[in-house]
This record gives sequence, C-alpha cells and structure tokens, in this order.
Amino acid sequence: MSDPDVLGLFPSGSRVDGDGMLTVGGCRLDDLAAEFGTPVMVVAEDALRQRARDYLAAFRDRWPRSDVAFASKAFPCTAIQRVATEEGLHLDVAGGGEIVTALSAGADPARMLLHGNAKTDEELELAVAEGVGLVVVDNFDDIDRLERIVEPGRRQACLVRVVPGIEADTHAAVATGHTGSKFGLLPADARVAIDRIRRSRVLRCDGVHTHVGSQLLDADQLAAAVAPVAELGSFDVYDFGGGLGVRYSYTDHPPSVAAYAQTMIERARELVPAGARIIVEPGRSMTAAAACTVYRVTTVKHGAVTHVAVDGGMGDNLEVSLYGQRFEATLPARVGGGDEVTVVGRHCESGDQLIDGVPLADPAVGDLLAVPVTGAYCYTMSNQYNGARRIPVVFAAGGDARLVVRRDTWADLLSRDVPLPQGG
Ligand SMILES: Cc1ncc(COP(=O)(O)O)c(C=O)c1O
Repeated sequence: MSDPDVLGLFPSGSRVDGDGMLTVGGCRLDDLAAEFGTPVMVVAEDALRQRARDYLAAFRDRWPRSDVAFASKAFPCTAIQRVATEEGLHLDVAGGGEIVTALSAGADPARMLLHGNAKTDEELELAVAEGVGLVVVDNFDDIDRLERIVEPGRRQACLVRVVPGIEADTHAAVATGHTGSKFGLLPADARVAIDRIRRSRVLRCDGVHTHVGSQLLDADQLAAAVAPVAELGSFDVYDFGGGLGVRYSYTDHPPSVAAYAQTMIERARELVPAGARIIVEPGRSMTAAAACTVYRVTTVKHGAVTHVAVDGGMGDNLEVSLYGQRFEATLPARVGGGDEVTVVGRHCESGDQLIDGVPLADPAVGDLLAVPVTGAYCYTMSNQYNGARRIPVVFAAGGDARLVVRRDTWADLLSRDVPLPQGG
C-alpha cells in the first residue's frame, strides 16, 4: 500500500529536516543511530507528555471526578511510569513486577490499581504491604487470599472486575470482554463477590471494573462497557478499563481521545451516579504513537519477493507475529515513496516478518529504516530470541536525547546462567 503520509504516523512534532533526514523529538534519526546503535526505540517525550495531558483534560473537563490510570503493561519501564506519574496519572499495574517498577519510578502506591487474573500470594502480599490503593478482584480466590493477608484493623479497598459480555471487534488474543473470558466474574458471580467483600472485616468494596479489549476503533463498543457495570448498583468507583485503538496504518481511524471521552461520559451520565469517581486505564493509546523503532538494513535480497532484512524483528516487536498487527515504515533518509518490499527480521522463523508489502525508496544495505507507532507492547514483549540483545529506549525532546533503558549486553545474556563446573 502506498501512502504519502507516512510522516503523519510518526510522533507529533516529527519532521524532515533541511537535508532530508527524519527527526523525532528534534533529533535526527541518523544521529540517534550513531550515538545509541540500532535497533533503538525512540520516544518523543513531548508527544508522550502531551498525550497524558490530553487524556486527563478530556475526561476531567467532562467528568471532574475522573482519573486516568496509565496501563503500565503497554510500556512497563520506570522512565515511562515516571512521566505518567509526573503528568498526574494513576498507574494500572498488573502483577508484582509492575508494582516494583512503578515504585522504582517514584509512583505513589495509593495511586496504583493492581490487576491480574492469577494473582499469587506473593503479589498480593506485596500490594498490601506497599499500600496499593485499589486491588481489582478478578475471582473468589483473590478474596480468600486477601482475607488471609490483610491484617485485622486494616481495610484493603477493592474493585470487582466484571465480564461485560461484549464481543469486541479486535484480535481474539486481546479481546477480554466476551462471556467466556478468563478475566473477571460474570455479573451474577460479581454480585456474590461484592456481597462477600462488603461483609469482610478487612476488605472494602469501592466499586466495579470492566475492560472490553484492546485496539478498539469504535467508541460505541468501548462505551458498551458502561451498562454492565452500572447495572450492578451504586458505587463510589466505576472503572471502564482501557482499549482505545491507535492508528498503526492508513486504514486505521481511531476516535480522538476527546471523542472517546465524550462517548464514554455521555453514556456514564445516563447510567452512573453523578458523584461517582470514573477511572479509565489507557495503555496502547497512551504510548504507541509517541515512539518509533529505528533499524539498520543488513541485507536486501531480490527473489520472488524483495526482502529487506533488518537487525531486529520479533525480538523487539512481537505484535506482528502474535496478532498480525500491520505497521508501516520508511527510510529516514528518503521519507515516503518507492516500490513495495517485504521487511523481515533477523530471527529464525518465517513468521519473523515485520511488514508484508511496504513502499521504500531504494533500500540498500546500511540504510536506516524507521517503523512508527511501536510505543505499546513492543518493549513489553521484547525477548532474547536467537540471543538478541533487547533494544535500548531513548527519550528525545527539543533536540536532546537521553538513554532511559540501555541495550542488553552479551554479559546480560549469560547473567542468569549458573556457571558450569570447570572442565569436561
Ligand atoms: C485491565 C486492563 N486495563 C487496561 C488495559 C490496557 O488496554 P489498552 O492498552 O488497550 O488501552 C488492559 C490491557 O489488556 C487491561 O487488561
């Protein structure tokens, strides 16, 4: 597919400078590649901060008692959690690891919500000990565990996660609201859980939670989450989860954050008590568009298909092989145009194909190649397949760049192996 607007997929503020080089956050991508190596993920810090502000304003302007909790899973590193915290967001943390990174980022545990469909004793003990503000109860075992863990005299505030019974129009792997979902409780069971928590001496039921799925491009489908939780009664807190989709490619037309907030709040005004607190938990739509990944072309092979291979792939972007997510790309030195090629990674699977059919202007060995909209779930699922060193993350702003996550070293690849005995 050919489209001249590939620049429009890069973080806002990206442009082509006087000698034709793509800049992100005011930094030339060739300079960043020279300084930090490739592959490298570049986050436009101003774009990320602006997105956080836009989210908060979109909801608070329409429903003053609302909070935006960044779903850490979309980009669970301390630098991103720090930005979210500095911009006034709460943090959705799924599991002990995200609590640990959030604490290290300086986040206030009282402003965290803990998720998970299979929380362990260890994770709940950590959450309770650190004072995590809200534990989202996903099942009756969560209640059993919390009742054992929370000391008498204390009260752990909880939300109950409800299966909304919505078939979301998205990839099956990231649809979470259908009746057979592994996440949450069906409404009848949720009522029982709410009653149990209300009777507990160490727990407090603050409200209800639901999440329809991820990469949803239809605001009405997101707003369909409101009724199933509102029907459960009157609470202090209604958490509608995340899920707003992003524009990865030219055919994706997600609602703006303002349009999404408008649709959600219109529905909430009909169904939710006026004084209640509303929470949303955007992940993908908070960070995806603020970043791009820069690779180096390692080989160009002309056969039945022209394969342009780069020095990364499914080690730094699993979205393609897991969900078939479509990305676009361009050469930072020659933005836009060109003939269609297939961009592949360096890993030992045919499925390690980053983009099937994308126009590139005369790609050659040694060129840089930039893939926009990689700021969600790519870092999250990065791995060391084929001994890949996980890639660094660089924040770019106003022409300055700073490393926030370093590249794995060869030593990192060996760091968990217990040294073998010497000799044979
Ligand atoms: C409970 C919950 N909240 C929020 C999110 C974030 O979703 P998204 O990244 O699509 O906004 C997820 C993602 O799976 C989730 O499970």
